Amino acid sequence: MNALFGLGQALLLALDPEQAHGLAVKSLELGFYPRASEPDDKRLAQRIFGLDFPNPLGMAPGFDKNARVPRELLDMGLGFVEVGTLTPKPQSGNPLPRVFRSIADRAVINRLGFNNEGQEVALARLKQRAVGIVGVNIGAGRDSNDRIADYVMGIERLGVVASYFTVNISSPNTPGLRDLQVPAALDALLKRLWAARAVLPNTPPLLVKLAPDLSDADLPNVVNTIVANGVDGIVVSNTTLARDELKDAAFARESGGLSGRPLFARATRMLARVYKLTEGRLPLIGVGGIDSSESALAKIEAGASLLQLYTGLVFEGPSLIGRIKRALIAAIERAGAQDLKPLIGARADTWAERPL
Ligand SMILES: Cc1cc2nc3c(=O)[nH]c(=O)nc-3n(C[C@H](O)[C@H](O)[C@H](O)COP(=O)(O)O)c2cc1C
Repeated sequence: MNALFGLGQALLLALDPEQAHGLAVKSLELGFYPRASEPDDKRLAQRIFGLDFPNPLGMAPGFDKNARVPRELLDMGLGFVEVGTLTPKPQSGNPLPRVFRSIADRAVINRLGFNNEGQEVALARLKQRAVGIVGVNIGAGRDSNDRIADYVMGIERLGVVASYFTVNISSPNTPGLRDLQVPAALDALLKRLWAARAVLPNTPPLLVKLAPDLSDADLPNVVNTIVANGVDGIVVSNTTLARDELKDAAFARESGGLSGRPLFARATRMLARVYKLTEGRLPLIGVGGIDSSESALAKIEAGASLLQLYTGLVFEGPSLIGRIKRALIAAIERAGAQDLKPLIGARADTWAERPL
């Protein structure tokens, strides 16, 4: 099955990136995917925000925007799945083409612009088949005249099916969205979301996802605002507008958010900075450029309790999941530890001080 999927991977990389994505989701829906062969090693398990994660590796949002295949992704051996970004109403996103891939750079640029089927459709799907840990990433509609109300609606509608929520204020593809990272705006948003969550029967954890393009100078105030509002965790990071050291010049000229290997150092440095600013007290999800065992372990050492990936899976295929989990177990053994705890943030100082 893995060999078959290996062939599938070569085929997917030969297709237009958005078509390849559609085909990958379809093949999951039809049951053509490699299942994890054994249950997770207990040493990879963690209880975080009151949820029992069987392993720390999750699917980043954007792959399963419409909650079509969370069960299948979990079956592949991922410890959790984040669906979305979901907006209140369906929207078609930006004109095609809007997803670009550079094999030379092991990177993707996307300017999808929150194409999604809307919260109601996702709700119906999640009600039918919610299993394992399925987080819901919420956003504001492109033409919304009250962005905060859009996020509130996400919480009100999807609260019953969300294992946790991620508040996406960091997509570069919805004009003005990142302005919600300005502390005063963020404070107002979080206070409204808190009130919305308080009336839910299950009070799912609330996380905030940040852009890697926040400056070192702005980051402390943003993090302080998040902590002061009692947010349960921070996701670092979304895609970047930077175009550092790309080999493919035509690719580099596409507008949109860059993900994959060229994002790794920037996102990991910021993760370590957030870890230090929160003094390791808040669980962090490390995301951005994980495409190997080494990059996964580096994220944990920079301060992540949980990991997410997307672009790495595009290039490496699903066998990456097992490889990363085996490497994390080996790292636990090398450290003479029982679980991941002593590794989390072990190299945050070094990562935080790296030059950009
Ligand atoms: C095609 C594509 C679509 C994405 N859509 C979303 C999205 O809807 N919401 C979101 O929060 N992040 C989205 N992301 C960002 C990813 O969740 C992740 O933060 C980013 O890609 C960095 O991780 P990676 O290098 O492992 O891909 C998207 C990324 C890609 C490549």
